Amino acid sequence: KKLAVFVSGGGSNFRSIHVATVRGSVNGDVVLLVTDKPDCGGAQHARDHGIPLVIYPKAKSSSEGLSPDELVTTLREFGVEFILLAGYLKLIPTELIQAYPRSILNIHPSLLPAFGGKGFYGLRVHTAVIASGARYSGATIHFVDEHYDTGRILAQRVVPVLADDTPERLAGRVLSEEHKLYTQAVEALCEGRISWRDDGVPLIQSRD
Ligand code: GRF
Repeated sequence: KKLAVFVSGGGSNFRSIHVATVRGSVNGDVVLLVTDKPDCGGAQHARDHGIPLVIYPKAKSSSEGLSPDELVTTLREFGVEFILLAGYLKLIPTELIQAYPRSILNIHPSLLPAFGGKGFYGLRVHTAVIASGARYSGATIHFVDEHYDTGRILAQRVVPVLADDTPERLAGRVLSEEHKLYTQAVEALCEGRISWRDDGVPLIQSRD
């Protein structure tokens, strides 16, 4: 399957997915990297590995970057079948959501629907989790709709919140689970092992 990954930051989820495709444990190829931050670590990884890179959205101060329609056209030109958001901070345009129904995944560093939505990104999520007194946090993979973090939940992993946790330590604990969770979800996606319950909830089928 042909995959596009969208990143805005360090890109550790992108890297773990890319490694899995190169190793062959995920039956897919990352054919395109989309970023709003051409200098971010994720974009650098794409350049280092010869993965084509495009900028979306257009930065205010620059002529570089695609419009929503150009983004959809570019994804189609590259034959992209699935889109993986991996620490991409911009909202996804309606044009793209309509062009790729049930084909766009995101990862979020909390147990959604808790601690999601606009403003809940990066360390802010973990700071809020610790302040709430929640004893567990985790990571969520969900399909993407027009809003932040509200699409259908596909998979989750849980981590404990420790009594003396810091946002940084909790972030690290969640991030290492994110890498495993995202790779497993993409593996299932590429193998056609996702089914949809009548009420619209997506489920991962095991291999046998
Ligand atoms: C992850 O915590 C992800 O859940 C969130 O942004 C972070 C991205 O990390 N959406 P990385 O760029 O994949 O290292």
